[in-house]
Amino acid sequence: MKPRFITFEGSEGCGKTTQISLLADWFKQRGQTVTCLREPGATPLGEAVRHLLKHDPAGHGMAAESELLLFTASRAELVRKVIQPALTAGRWIICDRFHDSTTVYQSIARGLDRLTVSVINDFALGGTVPTLTLFLDLPAAESRARMLRRPRPVGQTDRMENEPPEFYEKVTNGYRQLADSEPSRIKRIDADGDKRTVFEKILSEVKNAFHGQLD
Ligand code: TMP
Repeated sequence: MKPRFITFEGSEGCGKTTQISLLADWFKQRGQTVTCLREPGATPLGEAVRHLLKHDPAGHGMAAESELLLFTASRAELVRKVIQPALTAGRWIICDRFHDSTTVYQSIARGLDRLTVSVINDFALGGTVPTLTLFLDLPAAESRARMLRRPRPVGQTDRMENEPPEFYEKVTNGYRQLADSEPSRIKRIDADGDKRTVFEKILSEVKNAFHGQLD
């Protein structure tokens, strides 16, 4: 049986949160147990690291290498404390971002050496990789516009969202390259439509990937 592990990837504002919630509801309606997680975060250590990476002034101006190690530390914890036990127990896991975010943001967009990032990523994963990755593909300008429209707590800044438009161009192109290089795991979904249309495409990929495992 394939691990019941699905990840969602894409640039900021691509609609991951909405689609994850629709997919989780779909599983629950079928009587399945599903755990939704987010990266970085989803463990006490991971949430502390998330705060450091996104909002804490202590993280401002951090080196790209430190950023890489913090994202992967959060993931190492999540894999061992939550994902591996849940998969062993036969639960479905849906994770908002996972190791592909590190490849795209830290290697392709920030420019860290691809092989080094891959070795560190693999160490954090310990062999736990998703069966299916849904890449929600939106033009960079549209995803940036949606990101900027998102409501946020007054006075809260987000270090990752303060990058210039060129950074997000690299992120979008990076995801497209990655999806082309691993077509059997990473499915590119055109996210530029209404949420039900996008969800139908996602559902069709889920049914294909887990054929025979859904009941
Ligand atoms: P989000 O949860 O709102 O998507 O914020 C997470 C941010 O962190 C987002 O800008 C993508 C970035 N990120 C990385 O740069 N590398 C990673 O490995 C992960 C998981 C996220």
